[in-house]
Amino acid sequence: MMATEQISPDQRSKRPRIAQNGRLMPALEADLAARYDVLPLWQSADPVAALQGAGAGVLALVTSAPVGASASLIAALPNLQLVASFGVGTEQIDLAALQQRGVPATYTPEVLDNCVADTAFGLLISVARGMPAADRFVRRGDWPQGRFGLATRVSGKRLGILGLGRIGQAIARRSSGFDMAVRYTNRQPRSDVPWRFEPSLLALADWADFLVVAAAGGPSSQGLVNAAVLKALGSSGFLINVARGSLVDEAALVQALQQGHIAGAGLDVFAHEPHVPPALLVLDNVVLLPHVASATHETRQAMADLVLANLQAHFEGRPLPTTIPGLD
Ligand code: DGY
Repeated sequence: MMATEQISPDQRSKRPRIAQNGRLMPALEADLAARYDVLPLWQSADPVAALQGAGAGVLALVTSAPVGASASLIAALPNLQLVASFGVGTEQIDLAALQQRGVPATYTPEVLDNCVADTAFGLLISVARGMPAADRFVRRGDWPQGRFGLATRVSGKRLGILGLGRIGQAIARRSSGFDMAVRYTNRQPRSDVPWRFEPSLLALADWADFLVVAAAGGPSSQGLVNAAVLKALGSSGFLINVARGSLVDEAALVQALQQGHIAGAGLDVFAHEPHVPPALLVLDNVVLLPHVASATHETRQAMADLVLANLQAHFEGRPLPTTIPGLD
């Protein structure tokens, strides 16, 4: 990390002006402040209004997957040269507005694949084996009064994956350690993987013991996992979601869990984060995480390093390391 004190006042005045939309991890904010003249939009309740008069001086916007960049924010930055996002999801960034202006955008793919896949498997095993519920059983002091009930085996079962991008493939690879059969559905079949493509999500859910959601969010995938898909997954099937809450019809999921139409769910993401449907909080067959799939020291630092590398490459006139497809 470059310390602020090492920069002379003259150098400081020459640092490119960037705007920061939303909070970032403290170490990244410190690195940004050391290298750039940062306009902290997160300090204002209305970032677009905060850019009145100041927007013209901003050359790059740093944001994150959950915060993104709206069309009105982009419009308030007339000299914007780059958007650098922390995270892999792009559905909160108005990509069309950037494309129209010819402004490139970067994100942080690949470095988080393994942690997200680890979390998917962690959720899968946790919910199938009832681990959090068993933990609560021990903590409540219930063990001396009787045994904890039986759970569901994971090894040798059928794993269906919705979305076989990099993260979906990392999840599929992990299944070999558990002797699982894998099938997937995707916008297009892939010719570079050994797993069987299933064109119908409904048929995949019907086949699978575990349906793992690993597809991108956004309008085209909204509500893909609906009541019919959950019914097809069936009363012994589990849903795992490490992608976006928007892919699942949350009301249908709550109902399916309450009525035993599926066996359980492991969820890292929700439709209206940080709000979780209260009905889920009282169910023992659900494991709930606060959107932490990529949240390890190692991965978050690698993501921060990529944000910095993209900004640095841009201001040094070098090719950008990780552009969002279509926005290079
Ligand atoms: C991502 O990188 O998109 C994570 O899900 C955080 O939002």
